[in-house]
Amino acid sequence: MLTKKQKQVCMAVLKDYQRYSRNLPWRHTRNPYRLFVSEIMLQQTQVDRVIPIYTAFLKQFPNKKQLATAKTCNVIRAWKGLGYNRRALYLQQTIQIIQKEFAGHFPRDLKTLLKLPGIGPYTARAILSFAFGQAVPMMDTNHRKFYQQTFFQKEQQTDNKLLKKAEEVIIWLVDETGESSVYDWNQALMDWGAALPKEKKRKVKKKKLYVPFKETDRYLRGRIIDLLRESYQCSLKQLEKHFADIKKDRLERVLSSLAFDGLILRTKTSILLPE
Ligand code: ADE
Repeated sequence: MLTKKQKQVCMAVLKDYQRYSRNLPWRHTRNPYRLFVSEIMLQQTQVDRVIPIYTAFLKQFPNKKQLATAKTCNVIRAWKGLGYNRRALYLQQTIQIIQKEFAGHFPRDLKTLLKLPGIGPYTARAILSFAFGQAVPMMDTNHRKFYQQTFFQKEQQTDNKLLKKAEEVIIWLVDETGESSVYDWNQALMDWGAALPKEKKRKVKKKKLYVPFKETDRYLRGRIIDLLRESYQCSLKQLEKHFADIKKDRLERVLSSLAFDGLILRTKTSILLPE
């Protein structure tokens, strides 16, 4: 049951979106491929950073066929600036699977979508809601925060509990305003979350386990991929010289992990992005 007050809050959030929504490039399309690209990029990267890369990416790979048949090294190159490069591999792999096994059509059900590389419950629901207009709830950080604080206050809920409540909201909303408002609703909670005052960053520096980002393996992985983006291939010697301040065993460990993930290929003496 939704209370009158809760319904009012939801309706106000929806109306706010319908009047003041952010003008974001992926809100001008219902093309599943384009929306999928945007959602993979937005998984771990901020909106402002995603916008120009999303636009350039779609110029280079305007449709599924172009991406499915592209050289993987060029997909990784187009991912520059987004971080978490494995997403570029998942994105291409999923599109290749869709081309081969689904006759070029995105699956329209949660269960099948969840089997594809890089697609978790959030992204699957985003595709169903944004591309196919299905009346499904979704749960990213913003949605989670909204449902938690509007319906449960301080009593922390699991995602399953929050999804149940979200479903209830959506059933009411469809009843009240029609099916098409579910797209708006799920987008509205993104804008609602983005408008919240930024939480003060916790002072992590004093914590024992804090490692400055530049000293993390993730940072080093990114720098190695950046180097390979610029060149066709790189000898191990050149790489060791480039990262002279990094201990050899650490460099080796990070190279192994990149090779394991399929982000680089290694020969005896050189390293390159996958073809
Ligand atoms: N993050 C993930 N999807 C988004 C969207 N559609 N709009 C804004 N931020 C997002």
